[in-house]
Amino acid sequence: MSAAPKRRVGVLISGGGSNMAALIAAARDPAYPAEIVCVVSNVADAGGLAKAEAAGVTARVVDHKGFADRESFERAVVAVLEAHEVEIVALAGFMRLLTPWFIERWRDRLINIHPALLPAYKGLHTHARALADGVKIVGCTVHFVRPEMDVGPIIVQAAVPVADDDTPDTLAARVLTQEHRIYPLALARVASGAARVVADADGRERVATRDLAGPDAALISPL
Ligand code: GAR
Repeated sequence: MSAAPKRRVGVLISGGGSNMAALIAAARDPAYPAEIVCVVSNVADAGGLAKAEAAGVTARVVDHKGFADRESFERAVVAVLEAHEVEIVALAGFMRLLTPWFIERWRDRLINIHPALLPAYKGLHTHARALADGVKIVGCTVHFVRPEMDVGPIIVQAAVPVADDDTPDTLAARVLTQEHRIYPLALARVASGAARVVADADGRERVATRDLAGPDAALISPL
């Protein structure tokens, strides 16, 4: 029996692309249910572009500054994704807000990673804000994207304990290590169909994960 075809994934970046690199590395496994077929950056000198090319993945720049409005920028991004027959889009440090048009175009096939335990600490400077609040557990989240920023059904989270001497940078580094674990895991679940969005009678959405016997206990990192 031949293996199920891999789902075709496009990754959108704006920066260093370490999460993108983690997805590319995971997808090298022949058993992984997705392949990364292209990377698009809205920033011309994003470090992730060279990493993608070094890994043999097509990398394109669509610089938002060259477009009159968000939607025309996004139409250019979609043209690249469609040219590569992309089925799933993964935002990996992509720092542009997307319009409802784009988000609906990829509904339940558009995922994002955020460096906090959503729904806490949406937006920017998550680690500095968490330290200022004195919280003891932080983390990261992969979720399906909805039009509101950093909102959407949660696919996987990892928890990271805060140390007394943590700075925003030390915390960011430990959280990033967990991001690199959970993003490939979450994408695999989406690509294989194991993670899917279900809604309750009130229309509130969450992700149901097939074959998950208990809680994701491994997703709590050591201090
Ligand atoms: C990651 O920490 C990611 O979670 C964050 O940007 C960083 C990108 O790093 N994303 C956001 O803050 C989105 N709201 P990377 O380019 O090395 O993957």
